[in-house]
Amino acid sequence: MNDDAVLQAPLFLAIDEEASRALLRTMARIDLPRGRALFHEGDPGDRLYVISSGTVKLGRRAPDGRENLLSVLGPGEMFGELSLFDPGPRTATATAVNDTLLYELSHDELIAWIAEHPPVAIHLLQALAHRLRRTNEALADLVFADVPGRVAKALLDLSTRFGEPVEDGLRVAHGLTQEELAQLVGASRETVNKALADFTTRGWVRREGRAVVLLDVERLERRAR
Ligand code: CMP
Repeated sequence: MNDDAVLQAPLFLAIDEEASRALLRTMARIDLPRGRALFHEGDPGDRLYVISSGTVKLGRRAPDGRENLLSVLGPGEMFGELSLFDPGPRTATATAVNDTLLYELSHDELIAWIAEHPPVAIHLLQALAHRLRRTNEALADLVFADVPGRVAKALLDLSTRFGEPVEDGLRVAHGLTQEELAQLVGASRETVNKALADFTTRGWVRREGRAVVLLDVERLERRAR
């Protein structure tokens, strides 16, 4: 169990550890095996989730079956709160990318928690604002940036969640297939693959199955701009 990661979630920031752990004890634990969906876009929803370990992808499907990933979340991140703050159905499908452990809180319990600890509201707003900023950026990139630029940015973004320093760089064990990476970038698998092959030839990255080692972060940052 990775309670320390969970306690980094916006829900617990600014709250003393004893109260945080007391809330955590009331939250149900959910084991979500790799590939399993927790809920689907359009479902009614009355609970939110905090990731303790593992990875969750949030995706939407077009009427013609194509999929797009809005985000890939890791330990300490939260999802499922939009249908509370903006009542309505789930805005995305949540699926485990690898075996994932989650904690669950009902929207009613969240409201009670915020009433008891008002500073929590600020942290939740910060998390939402941060998400909006990233979404705006992704939208602008879809219009203005080329695919290699978007791939570089996606790798850097994934490295902030899943990156671990290794001898020759930053190893990002994102767990995504090539298809999922393409869905995250919003391009075809072939084009994303070509960009990755080019980065590899240039010595900026090394591919290792469902992980990638960032060997030259500075160049990637420049390419992402
Ligand atoms: P909800 O709509 O209840 O269920 C799907 C969840 O995906 C949603 O709450 C958010 O927590 C999350 N989500 C939706 N859109 C985005 C986005 N653009 N970036 C990150 N997370 C999102």
